[in-house]
Amino acid sequence: MKAVILAGGTGSRLKPLTYWTNKHLLPVGTYPMICHGVAKLRHAGIRDIVIVTGRSSLGGFADVLGSGRDWGVSILYRVQEEAGGIAQALELARPVIGPGEKFAVLLGDNLFEQSLVPFVEAYEKQREGAMVLLKKVGDPRRYGVPLLEEETGKILYIEEKPEIPQSPYCVTGLYFYSSDVFEIVERIRPSRRGELEITDVNNEYARASRLHYRVVDGWWTDAGTFESLEEAGKRLKGALP
Ligand code: DAU
Repeated sequence: MKAVILAGGTGSRLKPLTYWTNKHLLPVGTYPMICHGVAKLRHAGIRDIVIVTGRSSLGGFADVLGSGRDWGVSILYRVQEEAGGIAQALELARPVIGPGEKFAVLLGDNLFEQSLVPFVEAYEKQREGAMVLLKKVGDPRRYGVPLLEEETGKILYIEEKPEIPQSPYCVTGLYFYSSDVFEIVERIRPSRRGELEITDVNNEYARASRLHYRVVDGWWTDAGTFESLEEAGKRLKGALP
């Protein structure tokens, strides 16, 4: 299975750190954040990785990861000219994914303690549709929050950053799709904040009863705020990604 790591965006919640570098190149423990995602995917058997990032950051990723050789993977880079949303960044991987091919999408600021092997295996076996990973969190309001149909293991609807969350779970930034996701990305329209939202893509699957989920064990964070970045640094200090 191939994977796409989305590492563009503005990192606005981490300013002023992100005035001079891309969020995913900031240190988490003793490695730049991006290395943790690459190593986690590699551990799950993924050898082909596409990294999407902004124009001014490309050189930094090439400095850290190069072709991927030292990490046991092969890396292709795609440039997102403007931060137009997660789904817009995902669309840039379209030329690399073959018809009907299954692949994983990781938001570059998402850090998982648990091995991703079971999820890759589960999606390999899944007959159709998409799959997302969920985590129980203290404050779901910062995330996409799913309404679950527990009997079927499917999601009915995801509300993005709700004021009153309908469940204690959030949708983490690891998604599994097949190439049909690109047809959905083509159909969705920019949200009120002017971005192509991944939650709108996932809700298209949910509406068709095609959005499956699994729950993540162990520690998880997105390291997109000072608090979560600091916590990630402590957790992963000294850890080989
Ligand atoms: O971390 C999980 C959450 O990620 C989910 O619960 C939400 O449903 C999902 O919308 C997303 O929310 P965030 O507000 O945290 O997304 P953020 O704008 O921080 O972007 C997450 C990653 O996506 C970031 O590490 C870089 C990448 N990205 C983002 C944008 C907007 C891009 O590559 N390009 C972009 O244009």
